[in-house]
Amino acid sequence: MSELKLTVLYGTETGNCRGVAEKVAKKGEKNGVDVSLYDLAEYTVDQLKEIDNPVLVVISTWDDGAPPPKAAPFCNALAEVDIDLSGLKFTVLALGDTEYPLYCQCGKEVDAKLSELGAERVLERTDLGSDFMVSYIGWSKKFWKTMAGVYGVTA
Ligand SMILES: Cc1cc2nc3c(=O)[nH]c(=O)nc-3n(C[C@H](O)[C@H](O)[C@H](O)COP(=O)(O)O)c2cc1C
Repeated sequence: MSELKLTVLYGTETGNCRGVAEKVAKKGEKNGVDVSLYDLAEYTVDQLKEIDNPVLVVISTWDDGAPPPKAAPFCNALAEVDIDLSGLKFTVLALGDTEYPLYCQCGKEVDAKLSELGAERVLERTDLGSDFMVSYIGWSKKFWKTMAGVYGVTA
């Protein structure tokens, strides 16, 4: 089972994305997936090149569509970079609030940029609003079904 690996990267300000990322990690580990969990506050764009398994990015949006402040260095570097990420399989789970005009903008930008760099989107980006604790459940089912396909197993 050790070949089933997943990297979960989260960018958070008040902990919502961390909570969601930890839930994903817990479920994965329960199903025999080797999960690596990282805070984007302590992650570099160069590290993306070293990932040889699927990656999930869970990230929120803050003022005027900006990244969560602690993840801003990563997001700003990603926006600027021109590296080849072909071979990387990814999906983005964006947290936000529909009350804001730039709903889930940061997640949208990360998703678009990873694709632009050649990474393969294995599941369409999902945007979750303030009801994310509830709407997460439907996304989680879809996500693990997709991962089972990616890994070639029934998870
Ligand atoms: C001051 C403030 C600004 C925000 N700006 C946005 C925004 O521009 N777009 C959006 O979709 N959500 C926005 N949100 C909502 C957050 O993204 C949402 O609460 C999210 O769940 C926070 O996740 P985190 O705790 O992981 O950072 C904002 C929230 C606050 C308090």
